[in-house]
Amino acid sequence: MIRKWLLVNALTICLIVGWSFYQGSDSYYILSAKIISQVAFVLFLVNINMYFVLLLIRKGKDRTVKVKLAKITKVMMKYHIPIAVTAVVLIVFHAVLMMSIHTLGLQNLKVISGVLAFIVLLILLFSGVLRKLKSSGFRRKFHYRMAFIFFGFIIVHIFMI
Ligand code: HEM
Ligand code: HEM
Repeated sequence: MIRKWLLVNALTICLIVGWSFYQGSDSYYILSAKIISQVAFVLFLVNINMYFVLLLIRKGKDRTVKVKLAKITKVMMKYHIPIAVTAVVLIVFHAVLMMSIHTLGLQNLKVISGVLAFIVLLILLFSGVLRKLKSSGFRRKFHYRMAFIFFGFIIVHIFMI
């Protein structure tokens, strides 16, 4: 089970990186901005994985697997916020680099979808802070739903030609 889940993550990363290289880059400047965003993507993916780890702990039947996952959760949650902060810093860098090249700005679909993804990211961060301040059913759902909505926006942004 855990192996399959790691495989899905690895395939997702291969797909994103593969697509990016398939698209090519006009300059080293753009290439660096893309690589920075790919690192951020991997970090966001690690955080999104929290949902599946917690789900398996709640719904799983095998006690030994659950104990193992609880240990993984402890480590992942220790780094959850530092990972989010690092990814956000990288993505701001990515956005600034891209916007400085695409001076036509909002006329470019790639830029528009990026800006939209960024706005959703701000709401996701807000939901994370709420979740940290006080845990409730609503706050939990708000946070993980925002995480998946954000993921959807990133995918649109990445595969938008
Ligand atoms: C204001 C926000 C953003 C702007 C203006 C922006 C802009 C762009 C542009 C123009 C490209 C295309 C590069 C090219 O081939 O010329 C791009 C690619 C990319 N962006 Fe963003 N982006 C933003 C936010 C994000 C966010 C939040 C993510 C999340 C991880 C992200 C991840 C990526 C990735 C992985 C690529 C490479 C995909 C490809 O090769 O087409 N970007 N971005
Ligand atoms: C990069 C953005 C982030 C993503 C993609 C993300 C994603 C997730 C996901 C999917 C979960 C599991 C939700 C569940 O099933 O209950 C989670 C849990 C959590 N997140 Fe985030 N998160 C992000 C940023 C943040 C930030 C900035 C904070 C706090 C300031 C935060 C605080 C928490 C807390 C407290 C939990 C609960 C863990 C537990 O129940 O033990 N997250 N996050």
